[in-house]
Amino acid sequence: MNWTPDRLETQAGKRFLVTGANTGLGFETAFELAKKEAHVILAGRSEQKLLEAKERILAQVPAALLDIGVVDLGSVSSVKAFTAQFIQGNTPLDVLINNAGIMFPPPGLTVDGYESQFGVNFIGHYVLTALLLPVLQSSDHGRVVTLSSLAHRNGEIDFDNLKLEKPFNKFREYGQSKVADLIFAIELNRRLAASGSQIVSVACHPGVSKTELLRTDAPEMIETVAYMAANQGAFSTLFAATQPVDGGSYTGPDGTGEVNGYPAPATIAAYASDAKIGTLLWKYAEKETGVSFTL
Ligand SMILES: NC(=O)c1ccc[n+]([C@@H]2O[C@H](COP(=O)([O-])OP(=O)(O)OC[C@H]3O[C@@H](n4cnc5c(N)ncnc54)[C@H](OP(=O)(O)O)[C@@H]3O)[C@@H](O)[C@H]2O)c1
Repeated sequence: MNWTPDRLETQAGKRFLVTGANTGLGFETAFELAKKEAHVILAGRSEQKLLEAKERILAQVPAALLDIGVVDLGSVSSVKAFTAQFIQGNTPLDVLINNAGIMFPPPGLTVDGYESQFGVNFIGHYVLTALLLPVLQSSDHGRVVTLSSLAHRNGEIDFDNLKLEKPFNKFREYGQSKVADLIFAIELNRRLAASGSQIVSVACHPGVSKTELLRTDAPEMIETVAYMAANQGAFSTLFAATQPVDGGSYTGPDGTGEVNGYPAPATIAAYASDAKIGTLLWKYAEKETGVSFTL
């Protein structure tokens, strides 16, 4: 039977942090979790947009348990400031959902000097996850969910082009950032399992879903492509975040080409599960950011 969030059991007592929760898939994920009584932290870079998203959820779920957290994933210092405040607040956390992302922005670098898609989609989440891991360790069902994409299949990590050293190619650079996300999710799970941690790391993708993702490149396409609704696009995330999936697994829609449908095991490119690449990417992120995981 097709899995939908209607079948989701109560999430009362569990705390989820969703990055990029003010719109698109992140918003739909937060909304469905709030309906099921989870405590949800809506994280994003704009306080105003987060407050508006919170109001939109409260309008439909008046009893929703919601907080907001302002964090710019394109800035390692912003992620560090956010996590320091989070830890100081002694806020428990069960599930971290690394959802925020950008696609096809104009060529540019983050404040730390990474190609912006690689910096926001991967580096920001690497640091966020590393610094929140001690909080997740205290949960009985700690889980990290990272959003990848069908585009990971065309992605490879070019260690000589993570800071826009080569002429910008939006497809290549987006694919690189999304394969980095999938490599990260799988490598993190390897390391968690090896350390005996009870936390699991999983990945998911939303097929092709109608969101604001193309806003900087081709906003007209948001209305013309045959997308799944954003709400259905979030089903994979919700499944990966709440259902008994294996660590290191990848969930996506079950339709033709994984473009749409209902949550099911998705295809992982061999490159993304290559442990040698996982180690290289991990070491790169560790050395570059100066942030390590305590496992
Ligand atoms: N839609 C699809 O078909 C599709 C397909 C494959 C994968 N994905 C993945 O799904 C995830 C969600 O994307 P979406 O489609 O829902 O796109 P979206 O509607 O554009 O939402 C992206 C979210 O990420 C936030 N964000 C962007 N840059 C950020 C930063 N520097 N710091 C913090 N938050 C930031 C945005 O906040 P602002 O509103 O403030 O910019 C927004 O909340 C992404 O990882 C994307 O790669 C989407």
